[in-house]
Amino acid sequence: MTKTEEMVKALTEHTYGTWRRQEGWKTPLFIKDAEGVYIYDEKNRPILDFSSQLMCSNLGHKNKVIIEAIVKQAEKMPYISPGFACEIRAKATAALLTVLPKGLDQIFYSTSGTEANEAAMKITRQYMFPNFKVISRYHSYHGATAVGVSLTGDTRRFYAERARCTVPGIVFAPDVYCYRCPFGLKYPDCNIQCVEYLDYMIKEEGNVAAIFIEPVVGTNGKLVPPKEYLPRLKEICDENGILLIADEVMSGWYRTGPAWALDNWNVKPDILTTAKGCSAAYAPVGVTATTKKIKDHFEDKVMCHGHTYAMHPLVLAAIPAAIAEYKKLMASGLPKKVSKHMEKKLSELKKRHECIGDVRGIGHFWALELVKNRKTREPFNVKADKFTTKPIMTDKVAAAALKKGLYIVSWYDHLCVAPPLIITEKQVDEGIAVLDEVLKIGDQNAD
Ligand SMILES: Cc1ncc(COP(=O)(O)O)c(C=O)c1O
Repeated sequence: MTKTEEMVKALTEHTYGTWRRQEGWKTPLFIKDAEGVYIYDEKNRPILDFSSQLMCSNLGHKNKVIIEAIVKQAEKMPYISPGFACEIRAKATAALLTVLPKGLDQIFYSTSGTEANEAAMKITRQYMFPNFKVISRYHSYHGATAVGVSLTGDTRRFYAERARCTVPGIVFAPDVYCYRCPFGLKYPDCNIQCVEYLDYMIKEEGNVAAIFIEPVVGTNGKLVPPKEYLPRLKEICDENGILLIADEVMSGWYRTGPAWALDNWNVKPDILTTAKGCSAAYAPVGVTATTKKIKDHFEDKVMCHGHTYAMHPLVLAAIPAAIAEYKKLMASGLPKKVSKHMEKKLSELKKRHECIGDVRGIGHFWALELVKNRKTREPFNVKADKFTTKPIMTDKVAAAALKKGLYIVSWYDHLCVAPPLIITEKQVDEGIAVLDEVLKIGDQNAD
């Protein structure tokens, strides 16, 4: 057994692999190093990171500015209870306020996207009492714990429900998914039925406190809404006196172009949650930002929520450094230029591969939805296949890509193209060349 094999064995024999049967947690690829847009295996083979790991390493790997900021804070004061004030807490908050939408200037810090959503839910239900129902959508992922997974539309909720690990009071709405419209309609003749139906739902349900959305749906499809959808949704929320909660855990931090996906449509939510790109994945951070009106509600009431590691100094140290790096990168114009190039290259890829049913996305956030039959849109796999033992075509394609030096995240129906924002056109072409090869697997199985 090589040293690497020994390490893999030592790890897998004593840890749980996430979101999988444990029999599938035996031989994960060993990663020795990571720099820029590449990760390296034990033989120093470069693997292009085409999904920013879990759509979080937005600034690539080994960014020196962020690393130094964390190291400095570790030397100065790695931990102090959230009950104290300290310099990095003031600095991180000031930095965040330069990026957060105006008016969302009251922050609760945690250490993950799940926790950011958990806090949003608790704040909402206390603030909106006695209204408690929350509307979510089927194509969504909002986190792993009881609240997060209850808000989730994908199959992870099915498993949590069976284990009796969900919370009540969440109802699901149809998606804004033009390629497979749940109403069988076509944009623009549809009159955006998917958003108008939400108004109907709110009124018919009663006791609704909020609607929880990913402004551009991430894991479950990179679903970009038509331009009318989000402005109309905000109007519907206001008319019905309910909160709009934007989960920008994955869609935030310049992933779609501007800082927040909602900025693409000039919509402001009542609560915004984020994580992942907030530290560019250099430290585990969660942020729940609300209006002052919401915070004022708790002036004489207990905001009954908190964590030992809320406002953790090492985590917060990454935030101002990452924000400075984002601002510099965006000012360089590189991401804007590369995203256009990526869009063009992905559309060309569709022309060459029969198995690509739909190419959709925005900025550095794209889906290649694979289908068995392009005409009928018959899919290779459906939602219910996820986590079963049934082979999944996108997984096959992604596994072949990894062998050829390309890391790409697969979901049951699509491949996720979401590279770090520092990627160059040449590196995009490198990834596209591998996809060109491995998509043949899908083509061979298409009708
Ligand atoms: C939109 C969205 N919300 C919440 C989460 C949960 O974040 P975390 O995995 O940091 O708990 C994710 C994770 O992928 C996500 O994509």
